[in-house]
Amino acid sequence: MSIRIVRTVAELRAALDPLRGEPIGFVPTMGALHEGHLSLLRAARAENATVVLSIFVNPTQFGEAADLAAYPRTEEADVALAAHAGTDLVFAPSPAEMYPEGFATTVSVGGAITETLEGALRGRSHFDGVATVVAKLLLAVQPDRAYFGAKDAQQVVVVRRMVSDLGIPVEIVARPTSRDDDGLARSSRNTRLSVEERHVAAVIPRSLRAAQDAFASGIRDPHRLESVVRDELATAALDPEYVEIVDADSLEPIADLGRPALLALAVRVGEVRLIDNVVLVPGLDDRIPLERRRP
Ligand code: PAF
Repeated sequence: MSIRIVRTVAELRAALDPLRGEPIGFVPTMGALHEGHLSLLRAARAENATVVLSIFVNPTQFGEAADLAAYPRTEEADVALAAHAGTDLVFAPSPAEMYPEGFATTVSVGGAITETLEGALRGRSHFDGVATVVAKLLLAVQPDRAYFGAKDAQQVVVVRRMVSDLGIPVEIVARPTSRDDDGLARSSRNTRLSVEERHVAAVIPRSLRAAQDAFASGIRDPHRLESVVRDELATAALDPEYVEIVDADSLEPIADLGRPALLALAVRVGEVRLIDNVVLVPGLDDRIPLERRRP
């Protein structure tokens, strides 16, 4: 099947209806596709009969208007890359298709999982925006499996909670963070880094690796491990918005590193806000159990 682009939910349903009965894999994105997205598409291709990609820069999850305006929009290139990765159908709706006149519903996931980390920094509206658009996309596509990257670890936890609470019949598949050769997590935002900033940003994965090494050497005090990250970032004059170790499931503060913990950070490099994380698993060091976990 050659790739096809649809822009309305009605067209999407008409295209997918004859294909139901065999598994449908879905990769929701905001476009500006990079290797991380392509690895999600390839995973979806390997595990499903039909692969659907959505491209929608969701205005309701952006805090700063400038961030929304600066978000790269590269649909033509995205479609070519998606076709190469084996995508069958691209759903690329307009804001009016997703949020028509009179739209008044918000899906809001409560509790610690939306209040910490990104939720604390970006405010409640960020994950409300994510949960609402993901719910709408899942209801529109009705996939058997939906694929997310573990770089957005908190988003994965929030989406799993929402899917479980609302009884949406889909398997949420989290795939490991895709990284450049120097370890920097792939992100659509990386294209906004200058050459010099891109060089500086390489300290981010180094700082997480330093904490993993400290953890592997037996350090179990979360504050000491957080300091290892901060100290490494400081070598490149980076002052993070947060560096936190939380329970990998509940995202609550964790004192006992005897169970899987998420070490997450957000830091600005120039104007570009980057996030990254690793999971610290006693005895396993660098494993990412997110992809295996179910709520
Ligand atoms: O991770 C993203 O790109 C977005 O948050 C998502 C899941 C496509 C919702 O807009």
